[in-house]
Amino acid sequence: MPIISVPQEFNQDDLYVDLRQVLGSPLFLKCEGFNFAGSVKLKAANEMVTAAEADGVLRPGSVLVESSSGNLGVALSIIAASRGYRFRCVTDSRCNLATRLLMEALGAEVHVVTVPDPETGYLGARLAYVRDVCASDPRFVWLDQYSNANSWKAHHRTTAPAIARRFPELDVLFVGAGTTGTLMGCARWFKEWRPSVRIVAVDAAGSVSFGTPAARRMLPGLGMNVRPPLLDESLVDEVLHVEEADAIRMCHRLARRGFLFGGSTGTVVSGATSWLARRDARDLTAVAIAPDLGERYLETVYQSNWVRDLYGADVLDADELSTGDRAA
Ligand SMILES: Cc1ncc(COP(=O)(O)O)c(C=O)c1O
Repeated sequence: MPIISVPQEFNQDDLYVDLRQVLGSPLFLKCEGFNFAGSVKLKAANEMVTAAEADGVLRPGSVLVESSSGNLGVALSIIAASRGYRFRCVTDSRCNLATRLLMEALGAEVHVVTVPDPETGYLGARLAYVRDVCASDPRFVWLDQYSNANSWKAHHRTTAPAIARRFPELDVLFVGAGTTGTLMGCARWFKEWRPSVRIVAVDAAGSVSFGTPAARRMLPGLGMNVRPPLLDESLVDEVLHVEEADAIRMCHRLARRGFLFGGSTGTVVSGATSWLARRDARDLTAVAIAPDLGERYLETVYQSNWVRDLYGADVLDADELSTGDRAA
């Protein structure tokens, strides 16, 4: 049993859900939500802050500022509180209320951008605000999760080797793409150490990350309105795009079996199970990464009115949710 003295010291990095019983799909889901930040973003936040301190960029009296759709903001709120920095999180109106309240409870200041930039959307408007703040006061330090190499290095150092240790026979790894820190860290490690493993990126339909046109996206976490600076497409073997309605349906299917995950997990699992269903996957070893858990999505993904208003009345059709093959 670990004993810790700062919150970022604890992270459950070796928990997998075998989805064969749940979905009939030969897929292991690596859970990244069991830490005090509740998400995979604790790793990137910790690595970026530690590196900025070592480089002398972050010093006593510095104020962290970061654009985040929520999870990195929570992770930085925790680390800032633990290390004695002030932190201002810049988010937008799609940020879940629960996530915002969580950051405030941890002592962060939350700035919500409500007007998207006509060309670069909410992200562009958030980044413009961050740049203004940094220009106005030299105490502000922007780690810039979108281009900070320490974000992918965190996964290169921890996530990918942890998966490889647990699954020496791994054939395919499904990773969601937001800033692509998780994807790039894992893809680089496997290309270096286990090049036979197929790296499949899972993106939200309507994201421009891999060169497809922009469209409305309401789930935070995956997808970008600008090309992710960290992304090196040559390290990715395949890209899947998943509709938000399918991601939400998958979240509800998992919840019906007692596994409450966030929207990006629904996206990755939906993409992975469709990919596996198109092949004879019986002998394949497949792993997908679940970035967070579902409690922060109770007012969105798990609210039937929110879902019906955005995606139509039949998205949560009872037949879609039944697993069919469940044992008595
Ligand atoms: C819920 C969730 N899923 C997925 C991601 C994507 O991770 P990455 O930015 O490493 O691509 C994020 C990033 O914030 C997230 O919050």
